[in-house]
Amino acid sequence: MARTCVWNAIQVKVYQRVADPLAAPSQLHPPAARAGGESPKKRTPVESSLCGAVRNSVHLVFACWESVRLMSAFVVPGWPLRGGVAGSRRSRALYPHHGSAGLLRRRAFPRCTAGDVRGSYTVGRRLPSETPPPLPVPTDYVLISETAEWRRLVEHASEIDRLHLRELMQDVDRVRSLRAEYDGIYLDYSRQRVTKDTIELLFALARRARLVDKIRAMQSGAHINVTERRAVLHTALRAERNASLVVDGTDVVRDVWRVLDHVREFSERVRSGEHRGATGKPLRSVIAVGIGGSYLGPDFVHEAFRTDPEAFEAARGRHLHFLSNVDPVDIKRCTQDLSAEETLIVIVSKSFTTAETLLNARAMREWLWSEMGRSDEVVRLHMVACSSNVPMVEKFGIDPRNTFEFWDWVGGRYSVCSAVGALPLSIQYGFPTFLRFLEGARSVDANFYDVASPLAGNLPVIMGLLGVWNLSFLGYKSRALHPYAEALLKFPAHIQQVDMESNGKHVTLRGDDVDYAVGEIDFGEPGTNGQHSFFQLLHMGQTVPCDFIGFIESQYPLCIEGEPVSNADELMANFFAQPDALAYGKTAAECRAEGRPEWLIPHLVTTGNRPSLTLLLQRLDPYATGQLLALYEHRTAVQGFIWDINSFDQWGVELGKVLAKRVRKQLNESRYFGRPISEEFNASTRDLMERYLRGQVGCVFNEPFDYQRDTDTGRSPL
Ligand code: F6P
Repeated sequence: MARTCVWNAIQVKVYQRVADPLAAPSQLHPPAARAGGESPKKRTPVESSLCGAVRNSVHLVFACWESVRLMSAFVVPGWPLRGGVAGSRRSRALYPHHGSAGLLRRRAFPRCTAGDVRGSYTVGRRLPSETPPPLPVPTDYVLISETAEWRRLVEHASEIDRLHLRELMQDVDRVRSLRAEYDGIYLDYSRQRVTKDTIELLFALARRARLVDKIRAMQSGAHINVTERRAVLHTALRAERNASLVVDGTDVVRDVWRVLDHVREFSERVRSGEHRGATGKPLRSVIAVGIGGSYLGPDFVHEAFRTDPEAFEAARGRHLHFLSNVDPVDIKRCTQDLSAEETLIVIVSKSFTTAETLLNARAMREWLWSEMGRSDEVVRLHMVACSSNVPMVEKFGIDPRNTFEFWDWVGGRYSVCSAVGALPLSIQYGFPTFLRFLEGARSVDANFYDVASPLAGNLPVIMGLLGVWNLSFLGYKSRALHPYAEALLKFPAHIQQVDMESNGKHVTLRGDDVDYAVGEIDFGEPGTNGQHSFFQLLHMGQTVPCDFIGFIESQYPLCIEGEPVSNADELMANFFAQPDALAYGKTAAECRAEGRPEWLIPHLVTTGNRPSLTLLLQRLDPYATGQLLALYEHRTAVQGFIWDINSFDQWGVELGKVLAKRVRKQLNESRYFGRPISEEFNASTRDLMERYLRGQVGCVFNEPFDYQRDTDTGRSPL
């Protein structure tokens, strides 16, 4: 019995259990794909036809075969996909369940018979919106929590509960085995509540969850974001120029470098003063307008670069600001010390429909006009955009030549390596600085994708598995990130979005409710500030696994004469002390030995046994910033892969947006046209709005917008 499985780029039939394609690739791979880099001359006639018929089809053929193999990781273990690339007699003989390349016309297959072209595959074509959901639920499908590997870890967690980190840390062999190093990143996870057995069991779980296949599927450009039917390819944003990755018929790396070259050219013209404002002045300040992923990533990187000595020099005389909140106070704070004549506005919005960003964009346009006169020229010279919605950008009035594109295979929270970060950061720090950041991220991508090597050396995989362990097995619902580097002050906020928007889910890829905990609450502050804020709870209240990030060299070495250590050593003394304080705690006996009064002892005891991991890097420079970014992006992906959830969509934030639209309309109608608040709102919201509307706006419209009159006339900016 066959089940149909539909994907954006692939339509295949899933057959009853057959040999595992990974174990027996020869059964499923066409000769050319099997040979891997074989020359085009050796392809079958059908594959040659494909090559001739479609741009990049050589890769398309291979990519599709690869995708089919890899997508099986997202269906069910043991339920591989079978099919063919195109329908020739030969391929039929080789692959009895072959299909055809639906987007190719019959004449592209001179050797096909009529019966061959009947389309169990659709390659590189968007499926109509009414296409059924992409994944069927086979009868023998089980949640990851129902597997033996998961159950073994549940049992193991109760064994671990009997062990205290105080004892575990005595075992030097154990301590030395729980570390990994890659390209200057030293990861010590000996303070996690794990033994060597735990790690083996987590690797077994990873095998059961087909983690390696899922990582390969991501790398290949398979549409692993199943609900939006998109590839997840932020790693392509930092691929080397001479790399190639063909997805849905397009070499995405070529597109990436086309835009990067555009960023380089434009940023150099702004920095050199060749591109000037409407009044002839050079543009020394940039305001990047965006929210969520269109803000948090660039802001974190900006802060990380600001005090790097080379980046600092490159940015001399320039200013970069971020406008994200729709609160008008954010506009005031951004613009109050700036001259519009010398300011470039970069609108960053993947969708170019986000209400907050578009209102702020219109506010910025008004600000420019109020200072330089209302002209298209002002917008053309002072406003540029980073977006995947080029038509909307043009409609706004931005010169299409000053639009820096990115693509739907880049999720917003994963977009800092695209034009989203490239443009503002290259204008501020120079393009070469941004390239070093990309190189750092690329280095960790290589570690992540190197799944042929033992996973014990794969830092993102280790960190992801520890995340799964801490939440799903030990029950720690939160996780804290403490960079002992002031320049990483915005890193926790960025990772908060990366992780919580990605893994804040409640169903598996197939839509089943998860019956296990997924998605931690992430928060953090730079050390030592966090120590004087919420660390009390970390030591004595709930247990929150912590990540400590430190650097061997400071961006700003400082020795004050007479002090026992340099200022950076003082910082790092805390970095080394806190993980042990959390792990060991303090016993009543130790308090007594200090001569503490008996009545006080219960208040002084800290239980310890609180897990953490430590990352030590050489120095926070653009390269290391890129490394950290990729490390944490991939950690999140690993967790999602194990939990079998979609870490790349974000449907949860939609509802709030829809409701805000209704409230906005109500505020307009009540405020300016005296209409009563609709009964559709509940009593609480109605009363709150009524109270709010009794107050003063503090500003006036000459002609209030009227939904009834203006929505259809095109006046609506919304
Ligand atoms: O908050 C939801 C979200 O869609 C985020 O995923 C995204 O980073 C942000 O809004 C901004 O979206 P855009 O870049 O399309 O304006």
